[in-house]
Parts: sequence; C-alpha cells; structure tokens
Amino acid sequence: MTLPNDSGVRELPYGVEGPATLRTGEVVVVRVLGLQDRRALETFLEGLSEESRVTRFFSAVRPPSVVERMLAPAGFHQHLGLVIVEPDRPQGPILSHAEYARDPFDAPSAEVAFLTADVFQARGCATILLKRLALAAVHFGMTTFHAEVLAANDRMRAVLRNSGFPFETHVTEEGLSVSLRIDRPPPTERETRSSKPESS
Ligand SMILES: CC(C)(COP(=O)(O)OP(=O)(O)OC[C@H]1O[C@@H](n2cnc3c(N)ncnc32)[C@H](O)[C@@H]1OP(=O)(O)O)[C@@H](O)C(=O)NCCC(=O)NCCS
Repeated sequence: MTLPNDSGVRELPYGVEGPATLRTGEVVVVRVLGLQDRRALETFLEGLSEESRVTRFFSAVRPPSVVERMLAPAGFHQHLGLVIVEPDRPQGPILSHAEYARDPFDAPSAEVAFLTADVFQARGCATILLKRLALAAVHFGMTTFHAEVLAANDRMRAVLRNSGFPFETHVTEEGLSVSLRIDRPPPTERETRSSKPESS
C-alpha cells in the first residue's frame, strides 16, 4: 500500500484502505493520498468541470494552495486524504478524493470535503470514502464531521443524508453546514429521514 504522508506516525485501522465495489460493480481501491501523488492530484484537479470546481472550492478558480493543503504532512489523527484508484493502476488516475482535517479548536470534530472526477460521479465513490474516513476518524477519537455545502449541491447533500449517520443541517452565509455524528451507530434510513428532516 501507499506510504502515508507522515510515514506512519499513526497507523490506520483495518478496513480504511483496500478494495471497494462501486454501484456499477466495478472493483476499485481506496488508499491514502501521499506526497508521491502530487502529479496525479494536479491532473485530477485540472480535469474537473467548472461546476465541480465551484461546488468544491466555492470558486471557479482553484485556490493556488489547494494541492499543498491536500498533501500537507500531518499525522492521520489530524488530517487524512483518501483516494480511489483502479486496481491495476494504483498510481492513478485518481477517480475520487476525500479528506478530513481535524478542527484545532474542537478536537472531536473534523471538516470533511469530497471530490469525484466528473465521469465517475454517481457510482458511489463519495459514499465509500465517507465511510472509510469515518472509520479512521472514530479510531482517533473524533465524533463529528462537518461539511460546508452549497445549498444547491443536491449530490453532496444526498451523500451525507443517505450515509446513515445522524445529521443536522444549519444555514450559513455560504450555504449549508452539515454535521454528522460519526460515533453513533447508524440508524436505519427510515429513522434518519423521519427524525432529522433537513432544515434548509
Ligand atoms: C458531491 C460529489 C462529491 C458526490 O460524489 P459521488 O462520488 O458522485 O457520490 P456518490 O456516487 O456516492 O453519491 C452521490 C449522490 O448524488 C447522485 N449523483 C452524483 N452525481 C450525479 C450526477 N452526475 N447526476 C445525477 N445524480 C448524481 C447520486 O445518485 C447519489 O445520490 P443517491 O445516493 O441518492 O443515489 C460529486 O458530485 C462531486 O465531486 N461534486 C463536485 C465537488 C463537490 O460538490 N464537493 C462537495 C463539497 S464538500
């Protein structure tokens, strides 16, 4: 497997990295994004549609520091980036990326963000990465994920809503802030939808 970007200061729990099956039946591999992935990450970001750039970065122009931030060396207890790649092309192309960054002022919480290559969207990549990130985050003592989402971003909202984790949604200046309780056993989908309607 890939070398972690902090050379393994903290080990990930079993099940975070490894194979996964998309909704289409394709088998893919989830692995840690590491410093060796700089070029593949650049290519992935350059290939995005304007719509995907805007919904991820809230701007049509990708912030210049984003690659550095995604690759920033930190222990997995602080920051973890996961990517989905094809099993026979582990170096890339990157099909999907997701990351958490622990909130320094609220240690049990982390900010999460997701990005799937346009042609690979709607195959279940973000759903898989959310569950793998949560597995790691709970292992490191986190309880809550926060995601900042544009109000019109139905796809991201669907991923969070359908995750099975209890969630709350708050309206913010930029759109919506969705909080997921990742440490609670996921309720059934029916319980989630009836007990926690979105407040948007
Ligand atoms: C939001 C995003 C990350 C979702 O990634 P994904 O890998 O497509 O997610 P999944 O396949 O796990 O599920 C996405 C949901 O949206 C739907 N969806 C995703 N892409 C779609 C598309 N192109 N057309 C219609 N529906 C789509 C899926 O059907 C699914 O809904 P469901 O669970 O009710 O069936 C992806 O659309 C993306 O990268 N968007 C641009 C960046 C962004 O918005 N990031 C979020 C900021 S935190």
